[in-house]
Amino acid sequence: MTILVTGGAGFIGSNFIFHMLEAHPGYRIVCLDKLTYAGNLSTLRQVMDHSRFRFVKADICDREAVFSLFEEERPDIVVNFAAETHVDRSIDDPGIFLRTNIMGTQTLMDAGLRYGIKRYHQVSTDEVYGDLPLDRPDLFFTEETPVRTSSPYSASKASADLLVMAYHRTFGLPVTVSRCSNNYGPYQFPEKLIPLMIANCLNDKPLPVFGQGLNVRDWLYVEDHCRAIDLIIHKGRTGEVYNVGGHNEMRNIDIVRLICRELGKPESLITYVTDRKGHDLRYAIDPAKIHRELGWLPETRFEDGIRKTIAWYLENRTWWEEIVSGEYRDYYAKMYGNR
Ligand code: NAD
Ligand code: DAU
Repeated sequence: MTILVTGGAGFIGSNFIFHMLEAHPGYRIVCLDKLTYAGNLSTLRQVMDHSRFRFVKADICDREAVFSLFEEERPDIVVNFAAETHVDRSIDDPGIFLRTNIMGTQTLMDAGLRYGIKRYHQVSTDEVYGDLPLDRPDLFFTEETPVRTSSPYSASKASADLLVMAYHRTFGLPVTVSRCSNNYGPYQFPEKLIPLMIANCLNDKPLPVFGQGLNVRDWLYVEDHCRAIDLIIHKGRTGEVYNVGGHNEMRNIDIVRLICRELGKPESLITYVTDRKGHDLRYAIDPAKIHRELGWLPETRFEDGIRKTIAWYLENRTWWEEIVSGEYRDYYAKMYGNR
């Protein structure tokens, strides 16, 4: 079995590669990644020499490169993680989100059709459902919740989902889609809330909390997400969407305070900055379907996962310090300079 993992030099894709190489000793994993600012080969260092692993640097929008890789490798399954993923960047400059997240998905599916793949899996997000009100804790996103997006990022992901379903219905491509809540864990790029706050804390820099920090996200340890995708590609029904989340809702401010406590840093580092435009209030996944059909349940409790994550960032300081490149420093100055 050969699995093509796109976007595998990023946060979740790399964790998925580590998981699959260990969980499936007979599988070959081919990773295709453009190595944007968010992808880094040092993340894959531990598997680069693995006999069942191959890395290819390419853009999922590059039809020639994608088709020639399919011709060469004849993958059985494609798992598409490759995307532009940061909401704030999509507000600043939406174009690349539409190109990569929509057109890239089309290119991969066209190649999948030509080469008769057994499964195309689209890694989507709970953000396609928009947000929930803060004063209705009884409401959750189910797979039946209408798609209603807020940011250029979520609109691009929702567009891709619609296209994936269209390729299933019209061309018979055997697809599945997963929509997961916020992930945290090792190798997450320090522009996202948890690693950003850990990195800034460690450098005694201000901790920029948007608005009043009352927005709620539903956090899942990355390994639990990887296990869910592994189950879906093997046992999930084609043409189906599966929500993935662990009923772990937290307000942003509570996460930031917890990180300060764990690192022994003063809360006076917290700085309230101008809110994100169109900021989604609350995400909350109902994972009943994946539990009922595939027996999936999260295994890592937040208290354990966040400690493991903080420890990882402490032990792997060179990883995040090295990848915080010039481009990232310019981005950080631009994003937070005037807030
Ligand atoms: P990430 O930003 O850490 O990594 C994205 C990877 O995709 C990088 O390695 C990058 O180099 C690569 N990439 C970007 N454009 C590419 C292109 N045109 N061609 C090839 N490779 C390209 O992202 P992540 O947080 O690991 O997210 C992975 C997937 O999971 C995304 O599709 C995202 O929408 C989805 N998702 C993320 C979360 C989360 O909390 N991080 C939650 C739910 C769903
Ligand atoms: O829900 C899944 C989504 O989670 C994924 O699809 C996205 O790819 C991923 O980036 C993430 O989106 P969010 O916008 O929820 O994640 P982010 O880490 O950017 O922000 C989490 C919350 O923290 C959000 O309410 C905004 C807030 N925040 C974020 C940053 C970067 C701050 O208050 N300050 C910050 O500096």
